[in-house]
Amino acid sequence: MLVTELCGVTLKNPVIAASGTFGFGKEYAEIFDISRLGGISSKGLTLEPRFGNTGERVYETASGLINSIGLQNPGVEAFIKEDLPFMQKSGAAVIVNLGGHDLDSYLKGVELLDSQDFDLLELNISCPNVKAGGMAFGMEPATAGHVVKEVRARCHKPLMVKLSPNAPDLVGVALSCQQAGADCLSLVNTFQGMAIDIYRQKPVFDNVFAGFSGPAILPIALRMVYQVCAAVEIPVVGLGGISSAEDAIAFMMAGARAVQVGTATFARPTAMLDIIDGMEDFCKQQKLAHIGDIVGAANPGFRGRR
Ligand code: FUM
Repeated sequence: MLVTELCGVTLKNPVIAASGTFGFGKEYAEIFDISRLGGISSKGLTLEPRFGNTGERVYETASGLINSIGLQNPGVEAFIKEDLPFMQKSGAAVIVNLGGHDLDSYLKGVELLDSQDFDLLELNISCPNVKAGGMAFGMEPATAGHVVKEVRARCHKPLMVKLSPNAPDLVGVALSCQQAGADCLSLVNTFQGMAIDIYRQKPVFDNVFAGFSGPAILPIALRMVYQVCAAVEIPVVGLGGISSAEDAIAFMMAGARAVQVGTATFARPTAMLDIIDGMEDFCKQQKLAHIGDIVGAANPGFRGRR
C-alpha cells in the first residue's frame, strides 16, 4: 500500500529521514526500529572532515528551529569506513547527502562515493551555514545546472538534488537541475533566518544568519513544492515542516513522490513512525490501493508521473 518507487529505487514507504536530523541512524536505532523507514539521508558530508560552526548551533522559536551546524561531519573517507556499513544494514534505503565548498570538492567526493553500495546520492547545494559553497551553488539556475552537470558526468547512482528555498527563482533552479541530468529533486532545505540575543544586544549565531525549519515553514515549503511539481517532470521529494501524516499527504497531493521529515524528529523521535502509520490509515479509510494514487492529486499543473 505504501511502497513507493523513486528513480528506480524501491522505498517500503515514502517517509525518509531528512539529512542532518538523523546522523547516520545509529542513535535512533537505540530508540526505534529504523528498518521501518522508507529511507535515511545521511548527515551532509564533505570531502574533508569538518568540525562545524563556532558558537550557538541551535535556537528554538515559536513553531520552528534555527540551526547553524556548519556541516559538521567525519568526511567522505571516514564515512565510507565507519558509517556507511551501518546504514547499509539499516533496512531502509540509503541516501548519501554530499556537500562541497567548491566544484572540485564536490567532484572528488562523488568520485570516492560512486563505487560504494548505496541507493541514491543527494547533492546538497542548499546548506545556508557555510562560508564557501553550500547554498551559493543553489541560488541561481546557471550555477546549479553547472555543478549538477559535472556531478552527473561522474555519478552512476540515481542523483537527487536538494534545493534551497532562498533561491530567488526556485522553479528556474529546478528546471536547470532537471536539464543538467538530475534524476529527482528534494525541496526545500532551510530558510535563511536569524535570532538576536536581546540581553547581549548581538545576533545569537556567530554567522549571524542560520537555517530555519519546522512547522512554521510548512505552508511556504508546500507552495514551493506545488510550483516546482508544475514545472518539472522528474520526481520531487517534499520537505519543510512535516510533522504529521496529514502534512505528508498534503505534500504528496502537491506532487511529491516521497517526503522527508527532519525537525519533527527532534521534538518526537518516533514522529516518522506515526506518519507512516497515519498514511496507511488514510489509505485504508479512503480506499486507496496505493499511496502513489494521491501524488499530484491537488495540483492541476502536476507534470510528473504517479
Ligand atoms: O549547518 C548544516 O550543517 C546544515 C546543512 C544543511 O542545511 O544542508
